[in-house]
Amino acid sequence: MYVCICNGVTDRDIAAAAAAGCAGVHELTMRTGCGATCGSCMDMAADLLAQAHGRRESGIIALSDIARAA
Ligand code: FES
Repeated sequence: MYVCICNGVTDRDIAAAAAAGCAGVHELTMRTGCGATCGSCMDMAADLLAQAHGRRESGIIALSDIARAA
């Protein structure tokens, strides 16, 4: 499915970027263009990237991450 309509980035593109070592949404934007135009796709892109990594990397710290780190 298309995640970023502006730049034609799909969920498969995001999964491929994650598998290639993409560590965060800023790097995802540099690699794929996702989020580089209107930015409305960034939340979904961050979620998909986090799913690909099995953890949340959107820059927002989830309460479950805090509890895990304590
Ligand atoms: S939908 Fe991704 S930048 Fe606009």
